[in-house]
Parts: sequence; C-alpha cells; structure tokens
Amino acid sequence: MNFDVVIIGGGAAGLMAGAQAGKRGRRVVIIDHADKAGEKIRISGGGRCNFTNIHCGPDNFISQNPHFAKSALSRYSVYDFIDLVDSYGIKHHEKTKGQLFCDGRSQEIIDMLLAECEKAGNEIWLGMGVKTVNKVGDVFKVKTDHHTITAQSVVIATGGPSIPKMGASRFGYDIAAQFGLGVIEPVPALVPLTFTDQLKEPLKALSGVSVDATVSHVKSGVKTVFDEAMLFTHRGLSGPAVLQISSYWQPGDDIVLNMAPGTNIAERMKADRTARPRVSPAVWLTQFIPARLADYIASHVKAARLADLSDKAILSLSIMMQNWTVKPAGSEGFRTAEVTKGGVDTDSISSKTMECKTVPGLYFIGEVVDVTGHLGGHNFQWAWASGFAAGQSC
Ligand code: FDA
Repeated sequence: MNFDVVIIGGGAAGLMAGAQAGKRGRRVVIIDHADKAGEKIRISGGGRCNFTNIHCGPDNFISQNPHFAKSALSRYSVYDFIDLVDSYGIKHHEKTKGQLFCDGRSQEIIDMLLAECEKAGNEIWLGMGVKTVNKVGDVFKVKTDHHTITAQSVVIATGGPSIPKMGASRFGYDIAAQFGLGVIEPVPALVPLTFTDQLKEPLKALSGVSVDATVSHVKSGVKTVFDEAMLFTHRGLSGPAVLQISSYWQPGDDIVLNMAPGTNIAERMKADRTARPRVSPAVWLTQFIPARLADYIASHVKAARLADLSDKAILSLSIMMQNWTVKPAGSEGFRTAEVTKGGVDTDSISSKTMECKTVPGLYFIGEVVDVTGHLGGHNFQWAWASGFAAGQSC
C-alpha cells in the first residue's frame, strides 16, 4: 500500500496539511486512532471554536525559539483562514480582544476541513492505531493495526498530551526521540492553578466568583501581565487571565492579583473615609469587585465603617485588592490543560516547511511542536499555519 504522504493525526493541523498536500496532487492518507476527526475542534471555544485571532502575531507564542513561528504565520495569515471560513458561508463574530468565534457550532469548522480534504482527494482512516514508523533508505514504512504503508513523507500531527480522554497521546514525542530529535519537556499550559490546602478552605466560599483583574508573574526579571477575567473555583483559580499566566508559571512561583487595575485603592479609600465615613468597607469594595469577594476581603479588618479604618487597615485592604500574592500549589495538569507547552525542539525543524532537518521527509506540525499560543484563537492559527507550511512541501 503506497501513498505519497501519510499524516498521523486528523486534528486541526493534520487536516489542514492533508488538504494542502492533496491540492498539490499528492496522494495523502490521514490516520487517526480516534473514531472522529477534529475532536478538539469540536469542544473548543465552548463548542463555538475560537478559530483564530485578528491580532495574532509571533508575540502571542511561547517557544525556546521565539522567532520560529514567524515564517509559517506570515505565509498563512489569519486573513487566509478567515477567507476560507467565509468561502464556506460560516458566520462568525469577534467576541473580545480579536477572538473570532463561530456564530453556530464548532462542527462547521470540522465539516469545512473535511470538505477541503475530500476535494483534495485525501483518504481519512479513523479508529486506526499506528504501531511503528521507520525509514528504510528514502522510504518511510508506517505500520498500522491492519496495514503496512510505504510513503515518501510522514507528517506527525498528533498534538500534545493535554486532555488524554480526547485521544491525546505522546506518540509524536516518541517518534521524535526515535529519530534522534530533541523534545523540550512538555508541561500543561492554559490550565487552572490550584490553591494550597491552607488557602483552599478559607477561599472555598468564593467558588464561582469572577472578577476583571490583572494577573502577573515575574521570572528572571521578566514580568508578564494579563488583563482579563479571573475566576475563583473550588480548587483554585481559573478564567482567561489565570489560564494565560499558567503558561508562564512554574512550580514554586508566585502570581500577583490586582482586582482593581487602574485605580489607587488606598488613596480613594482614604478620600472616602472623610467623604463617605458611614459606608462599610465591604459595601465600598463592591464598586470594584463582587459582593462575596468584597465580604471576604473586608473580613480582614475589624472596622464596620470607613471612618473606623486606620491607615494600616487601609494599606492591608489595598494590598489584598491590588497586590495579592498567591503561591499556587500546582496546576490541574494535563487532565484539563487546553494545550501543552514544550514539545519537539524547533532546532530540529525547518521553520519554512516544518520538515525535520536531519530526517528528510519527516514533518512535525501543530501542538506537538514546541510552539504554544496564548489563549484566544492563537493555537488554532498555529495549527493552520504550520499545517499549511508542511502541506506545501511534503
Ligand atoms: P489535535 O489535538 O487537534 O489533533 C491531534 C490528533 O492526533 C487527534 O485527533 C488525536 O486523536 C490524534 N492522535 C494522537 N495520537 C495519535 C496516535 N498515536 N495515532 C493516531 N492518531 C493520534 N485553541 C484555540 O485556538 N481556540 C480555542 O477555542 C481552543 N479551545 C480549546 C478548548 C479545549 C477544551 C482544548 C483541550 C483545547 C482548545 N484549544 C483551542 C487548543 C487547540 O484545540 C489545539 O491547540 C489544537 O487542537 C492543536 O491541533 P493539533 O492538530 O496539533 O492537535
């Protein structure tokens, strides 16, 4: 059984690569061990697929080589993908911060990609495990549960280990190691952070509270800040701002929460101590944060009225509001992580074609590569762009 290209993984990147390679006249088979293609697309964006971000650029990605993603992102831009979506009549809207979502269901994006693959003559084999990949001379031999396939090119598009119950696997890293390529340690990213037992109990009452905040993290003198919503959960912190910072956080690091960005809480409280002396601190705080959180923060001082607050009490409230330093116990791990940080070392891969420099014909695309996007459609844009790059070359 012979194909020009075997693509292992029928997710976002694999389907894009298959469609592109097929359009070039290549005989392509896409193999996935899941029963359906594009399962992560289906569950993405709360079922509406945040398929790209109009502000997407190289600065939205984390990698050991911050320049690696530039070439692919410029060759297949956000607007190329939007044109494709528009050509299928898929309605979409900008939610916030440039994030484009389907008006309808994510399935529309999967159907579009499958239609592109069909137009390009791809075969798609689902529910089929791949046992081994070897290269003999110039030819790859791919053994599945049922066949041995020979091919000139093999594209690894198996994603990362996040959400194992969606078919995620470490297969791509094993193949990289087999062919002597480096793998940057894969860790969960875009993932909720958990409280220590010491914090979990007192903060249990805040579960479900959401607040606009800036969440920051400093490492080796580099400060990273995200300004978005943050959510208290029964286990710790989540919401976009915390998911974003989790991609930078490492065990043992602190994160700092500012729940009234752009305001000087201490100054305003001191002014209102005179202007509105009878207001309770908890009620006063509700102009910035929800009542449950305001009650919790105000419970740290004894005063019933602003007038009774000492300068020291105001300072302590303002620190909790604007400089609350939390040391998370950990993260929820790959079980709930939206993506994986780390992966196949970009040093081993051409940034133009995604082909392995030392193993001609072997390609790595999408999340399996050490390129991790910020929350908000950037990870899919990387899947489309890296899939396109490989599809033009394999
Ligand atoms: P992807 O994981 O999509 O595909 C890999 C495929 O390989 C899977 O179909 C899997 O079954 C298959 N596979 C794995 N091992 C195999 C093996 N050994 N043999 C055969 N097949 C194998 N991003 C974004 O930009 N916007 C969003 O809205 C969201 N939302 C979101 C929500 C949730 C809950 C998650 C978990 C993730 C997101 N993401 C996201 C991230 C996004 O889903 C992710 O970055 C892309 O799906 C990565 O595309 P890939 O094609 O690289 O991997």
